[in-house]
Amino acid sequence: MRRLYHRSAAALALAALAVAGGAARANDIDAGRTKAQACAVCHGPLGVSTQPDAPNLAGQPALYVSAQLRAYRSGARKHEVMSVMAKPLTDDDIAQLAAWYAAIRIEATAPR
Ligand code: HEC
Repeated sequence: MRRLYHRSAAALALAALAVAGGAARANDIDAGRTKAQACAVCHGPLGVSTQPDAPNLAGQPALYVSAQLRAYRSGARKHEVMSVMAKPLTDDDIAQLAAWYAAIRIEATAPR
């Protein structure tokens, strides 16, 4: 009986964590959507690039997008535009931007 109680308490705690995690992610996505307006001129409003030299960001894993932004910010990756864009970003900005682009759903279709 005691064990059962502990187990269900653990399950409840895990469920609460999952809900909190989901809410945090939704907040990140919303914040990222707003912040990504500064990026839309090149990467498009939905992360599908509008410039021939700018890559698509829609659907990219958050891990990848945040790693690139950190690399631009630190100077490990250099690009005349992106180094300037990434310089003022905080860790939170990066997490939110990455969450936003990762959450955009894309579809790929073979050429034929
Ligand atoms: C003036 C155009 C422009 C703006 C504005 C801009 N970018 Fe970029 N972005 C580029 C270009 C061009 C590249 C390719 C750079 C390179 O070759 O390293 C790039 C690359 C990136 C990459 C790397 C993608 C990859 O596939 O490796 C990320 C991530 C990124 N941008 C995010 C952002 C975010 C977030 C913002 C807004 C805060 C932003 N960019 C604003 C032009 C822009």
